[in-house]
Amino acid sequence: MKLIRKAVIPAAGFGTRFLPFTKAVPKEMLPIVDTPTIEYIVREAIESGIEEVLIIINSEKECIRTHFGHNVVLENFLKSKNKTKELEIVEALPKQIHVEFTYQEEQLGLGHAVLCAENFANGEPFALLLGDDVYVGRKEPATKQLINAYNQTGSSILGTLVVPDEDVSKYGICKPRGTSKNSLVELESVVEKPAKEVAPSNLAIGGRYVLTPAIFDYLKTQTRGAGGEIQLTDSILRLMSKEKVYSLAIDGRRYDIGSKKGFLDATIDFSLKRSDLAEDMKEILNKHK
Ligand code: UTP
Repeated sequence: MKLIRKAVIPAAGFGTRFLPFTKAVPKEMLPIVDTPTIEYIVREAIESGIEEVLIIINSEKECIRTHFGHNVVLENFLKSKNKTKELEIVEALPKQIHVEFTYQEEQLGLGHAVLCAENFANGEPFALLLGDDVYVGRKEPATKQLINAYNQTGSSILGTLVVPDEDVSKYGICKPRGTSKNSLVELESVVEKPAKEVAPSNLAIGGRYVLTPAIFDYLKTQTRGAGGEIQLTDSILRLMSKEKVYSLAIDGRRYDIGSKKGFLDATIDFSLKRSDLAEDMKEILNKHK
C-alpha cells in the first residue's frame, strides 16, 4: 500500500458567495485574524505529514502563489531594519515546504479542478483539502485523521460532518452500508446536493478527502452533474463500482470561510483563542451586545 505523501488544494473557483470581495481577491486569501485562509490549510497538510503540496489556481489568483514564495525585497527590508521577528514570520512557510501550482483554465467544477492534479499525483493516493474549509482538529488535524483511516483500510476516505436537514442540499451526502454507528464506515453511495426529501442521510462531505489515483479514470469521463458542474462526488460514486470507499466522521470544528457566516465565526473564534487578542475581542463583543 502506497503512503499518503501528497496533498492537493483546489482554489480556482470564483467564490460567488463572497462577492464583491472575490471580484479582485481570492476567498482563499481572506484573513482569519492575520493569516490567509489557505495558509491554515497548507499548515494542516504539513502537520498531517504531507511532503508535497499542489494548489490549483486560475490566472486571476496569482497572489496565492506570491504568498507561498519568498518576497526578497520585503525580506531584505526587514533584515536592514533588524526586524527579526517579522522576518521569521515571512520566511517560515517557504522554508518549511515547497508548494507547486497548476492552473484550471475554465471553472467547470470541483471534479474538473481535481483532474488538473493527475500529473502531480503521478499514480499515488493523495489528500484533498478544499481551499476554503478550515478545521480545528480536537486531537489531530482533520487530514491526519483521514490518513490514519486510509492506512487502516487502503481505501479512499471521505471526511464527514453531520448537517441539519435544511443544509443537505448544499453538500455531497453519503449513504453508509449497513447501520453501523462507527465513525469509520464503508459507503454504499454518495449523491451531490440532494433535496432534503431524498437525501440518504445527514452525513455531509466536509472538504477533506483521501483519494486513490483510480479517481482520475472516472474524472476524465465525468459528465456534468448538479449545477451543470463536473462533480467530484459523481466520480466517487462511479469509483465505488471498482473499489471500496469509506467515510470518516471528522473529530473537530469546521469553518466554511467561503460563506460570510463561516468567515465571521472563524474570525471571532480564532481571536478568542489568541492570547494577544482574546481580551480585545471580548471587549468588542461586549460593546455590541
Ligand atoms: P466551492 O463551490 O466552495 O467554491 O468549491 P466556489 O465555486 O469558488 O464558490 P461559490 O460557491 O461560488 O461561492 C470548493 C473549493 O473548490 C474550488 C474552490 O476554489 C474552493 O476552494 N473550485 C471550485 C475549483 O478549484 N474549481 C472549480 O471549478 C470550482
